[in-house]
Amino acid sequence: MNPTIDLLKAHRSIRKFTDQQVDDETLTAVIAAAQCAATSHFVQAYTVIRVRDMTKRQALATLAGPQAWVARAPVFLVFCADLNRLEVACGMQATTMEKGWAEQFVTATVDVALLAQNVLIVAESLGMGGVYIGGIRNDPQTVCNLLEIPDLAYPVFGMCLGWPAHDPPPKPRLPVDAVLFTDRYPQRHDPDKLAAYDRTTNHYFMNRDSNLKDEAWTHQMADLMGRVIRPHMKAFLEKKGFFLK
Ligand SMILES: Cc1cc2nc3c(=O)[nH]c(=O)nc-3n(C[C@H](O)[C@H](O)[C@H](O)COP(=O)(O)O)c2cc1C
Repeated sequence: MNPTIDLLKAHRSIRKFTDQQVDDETLTAVIAAAQCAATSHFVQAYTVIRVRDMTKRQALATLAGPQAWVARAPVFLVFCADLNRLEVACGMQATTMEKGWAEQFVTATVDVALLAQNVLIVAESLGMGGVYIGGIRNDPQTVCNLLEIPDLAYPVFGMCLGWPAHDPPPKPRLPVDAVLFTDRYPQRHDPDKLAAYDRTTNHYFMNRDSNLKDEAWTHQMADLMGRVIRPHMKAFLEKKGFFLK
């Protein structure tokens, strides 16, 4: 349809990278373009940390899974939702920031996610690839200790970036008519549509170039949603000053 749509439809997470490095100029250009993402009330409530120290990188790779690509990727970024800059702004204007509101948590988390998705798209537009790393939330306090992330900020996810050393096929998404509705929420999420999507995803999992498995989307979601994942997050966020009221 157009090059942007083609780029978006070609997305697939990349977890193997060539040895080619990403120079500072390229990374700066990627972040600058990504910062043009919309931002709630213009708050820009994010801070990104590039992790170059290999000891820290290895520690992050281990706590995230382990996930080897966290240590091996040419670039590893940690995306923080961050209210600290806004507190400085309040101080400069001799006012006090309201803290601990759930709305601020949502605002900062959405802002950093929009930034990060732009980073990935811009990187892909330059021929790079990458993958988000939610696994750093396995132990977010250790991430904060390693990277000296203060209260009123928290690591939402990491991202590996670099030049792809594999070429996996894109993963098929839900059909549009399963996610887009008009004027009202659907009476139900149609199991027939999900069964059809199971056939599509099973075909994908059985035919991709590696890690073949006889699975489908509802199997995976039933397994995932039947488990308690990262139960420490509520207490962690409260400790960091988020989500108190
Ligand atoms: C917030 C977030 C966290 C993720 N965390 C991880 C992760 O820790 N490790 C990983 O290998 N992939 C991770 N992924 C990648 C997803 O597994 C991947 O995007 C999804 O399976 C769809 O595949 P695709 O990106 O190749 O289309 C994450 C994606 C998102 C959006």
